[in-house]
Amino acid sequence: RPSIGITALGSFAPARVVKNEEFEARMDTTAEWIESRTGIRERRFSAPDEFTSDVGLGAVRDLLARDPDGLKDVDMVICATASPDAMFPSTAALIAGQVGLAGAGAFDLSTACSGFVYGLGMARGLIQGGMARRVLVIGAETITKIVDQEDRNTAILFGDGAGAVVVGPVPDGYGFQDFVLGADSAGGSSLYSRFLAHQLPGGFPMGKWTGMNGREVFKFAVRVLGDSGAEVLAKSGVKSENVDWVVPHQANVRIIEAAAQRFGVPMTKMVMNLDRYGNTSSATVPLAMKEAVDDGRVKDGQQILLVAFGGGLSWAAATLKW
Ligand code: ACO
Repeated sequence: RPSIGITALGSFAPARVVKNEEFEARMDTTAEWIESRTGIRERRFSAPDEFTSDVGLGAVRDLLARDPDGLKDVDMVICATASPDAMFPSTAALIAGQVGLAGAGAFDLSTACSGFVYGLGMARGLIQGGMARRVLVIGAETITKIVDQEDRNTAILFGDGAGAVVVGPVPDGYGFQDFVLGADSAGGSSLYSRFLAHQLPGGFPMGKWTGMNGREVFKFAVRVLGDSGAEVLAKSGVKSENVDWVVPHQANVRIIEAAAQRFGVPMTKMVMNLDRYGNTSSATVPLAMKEAVDDGRVKDGQQILLVAFGGGLSWAAATLKW
């Protein structure tokens, strides 16, 4: 099978910076509580008329600014998002039409915060199965629009943003090694958004806002990040001491610390930017990855581990030679 990897990348974050102090001023919390319990200091909020296709488009435009030929041969577009503009048309189609990719296949992928890493796996499979030549994979969110800004349990955690990569053929020895993708609805009611639905079975409370049992999600996240990371390393024949960088889903610094311990990688190898962006759901992994590439941390030929978890509950891990 040909080697498939990432051939271009870009990212975007809305302009408005929301610091912890802003929550302190309007709800029963403190900036200190938020930072010490989550590691988050600030996050970005989309403008009222700025939607997920807009931030996703921002990330693709950034990709094109860095590499004007970056979208060449792209014939499939996947947008991982938990906050799509609409049920249909897909956010992927809306973005594709604005970057000269009208006519390419386009669809949204719904696995909440695991979505971007799932999308990378789908892209590799489509190319290796002969169904696409190159795939544009976007993780884009305006998740703050589906989070109750008066609920201190959730409002403080989330931010908006997007990342975009092109997945395509790379020289032998580079690219993706293996994926572990999973989901288990047993914990599904610990983290949900019913924004578009009014009557779902299964005991999900009514209401349009994102609901969360923080403690349950925390326990699940620590276990699944550690286990799926270890599983994909074993599948790829990579020892944890040979991992150069881990790019984890950026939800909570304490979750990342506990997970790092579980798969035996020191915190100095964890790529982190949640202090500045909070949890941007499906956008955290590409936002963090692009920063680490741009500032020279991630270098040619290095061993990367991507790990994410999210609503479903779901998880996704991948190994990659950069
Ligand atoms: N300010 C002050 N107090 C707060 C706040 C706040 N913003 N939020 C909650 N509290 C209170 C709680 O009400 C609770 O009070 P109580 O003991 O009187 O009931 C107390 O703080 C402690 O609550 P815990 O839940 O034990 O706090 P914890 O240290 O676990 O931190 C947190 C809470 C940050 C939410 C943590 O559980 C967490 O990060 N969980 C994972 C969440 C997550 O990752 N979600 C996104 C998943 S990705 C996706 O797919 C969308």
